[in-house]
Amino acid sequence: MEIIETIEKKFKEIFNEEPLIVNSPGRVNLIGEHTDYNNGFVLPAAIDKSICFAITPRSDETCKLFSYDMYDSYEFGIPGFEFSTKGWPNYLMGVVDQLKKAGHKIKGFNCVFGGNIPIGAGLSSSAALEAGLIFSLNHIFNLGIDKLSLVKLAQKAENEFVGVKCGIMDQYINIFGKSGNVLRIDCRSLEYQYFPFDYKNISIVLFDTRVSHSLASSEYNQRRKECNAGVELIKKYSPQATSLRDVNVEMMKEYESKMDPVTYRRCKYVVEENERLNKACNALEVHDLKSFGSLMYQTHEGLSKDYEVSCTELDYLVELTKDNPKVYGSRMMGGGFGGCTINLIENDAINEIKSFVKEKYKSMFSIDPKIYVTKINDGTQIIRENTIAER
Ligand code: GLA
Repeated sequence: MEIIETIEKKFKEIFNEEPLIVNSPGRVNLIGEHTDYNNGFVLPAAIDKSICFAITPRSDETCKLFSYDMYDSYEFGIPGFEFSTKGWPNYLMGVVDQLKKAGHKIKGFNCVFGGNIPIGAGLSSSAALEAGLIFSLNHIFNLGIDKLSLVKLAQKAENEFVGVKCGIMDQYINIFGKSGNVLRIDCRSLEYQYFPFDYKNISIVLFDTRVSHSLASSEYNQRRKECNAGVELIKKYSPQATSLRDVNVEMMKEYESKMDPVTYRRCKYVVEENERLNKACNALEVHDLKSFGSLMYQTHEGLSKDYEVSCTELDYLVELTKDNPKVYGSRMMGGGFGGCTINLIENDAINEIKSFVKEKYKSMFSIDPKIYVTKINDGTQIIRENTIAER
């Protein structure tokens, strides 16, 4: 609530108008990592860390932005704008760029935004910016864009303007997230299903390594290439396979002798991860969080050994509490090479585990880790209408 008030106040101070207020959350992903760009399944949830937007339409074609967290402003015109070396405006210009390309008629706008999603922690602050803005613009300009198209445009903003070839998970969960539920997304059909995840005795706790190794984006693109190379080879033997989604663990074994070992390990991980996710959803249906948690550990093992996107800090955090019966599951989350581990922990043990992890991690890496106990929240939504928006 505090953030909303701060952003609204700043907006009124700069623009002296009543804005539309929109809340756009970060996300966690319980299981299903590096599967979205392989047409597989993911199981994310929107969380109670978010970016708040205060926004009004203008009658000219100027866009005035103020990032509260950077305490920095930026202005651009809709007819023509370019990639900014400042960084943060690109996530927003990318959205305007996509709306223009899709033929939507928008005018300029005034916008102040800010929040508490830690940047670089793998909680999708970039998707929150893109999806939050496109949602807001859709509303203030009455564009009538459906939710799934908002997701696709926001993802394209990141792919094309920002230049990061991410999959669809982050923008999807930002728009479709629902309080108390995780969302199983089929990244091929783009269909989804909610699974209740609302336990009195268990919380989702994030341990933030506070490192972000520079390998992250180059290795991410490299993994995409390796998976595609694997699919090309598989196609020679199974022409009906168009992605790793069409391959199962049994089939994979046949390809072991035909693929180079690295490609094989990458593909094997993805194929196994899709199967794990389905098992994890079955476990959720019977509220078997112990089984769910042990699948998370298996995912970590795969990400670390076969997919090779973990790092010393993440591996250390997962190992640290592995023997603690109060920790049901733990794994690295998101793209990898830093960011957070996601942990399922019994509430009555959280405080003790927090102190333990903080102390051990600090003495190992001389870094104070951050620890977030999260709640599953709704996706991007309007907090307060403004009168101008209803014109
Ligand atoms: C990043 C990307 C997502 C997804 C994850 C890995 O968060 O933005 O699309 O690929 O990595 O699961």
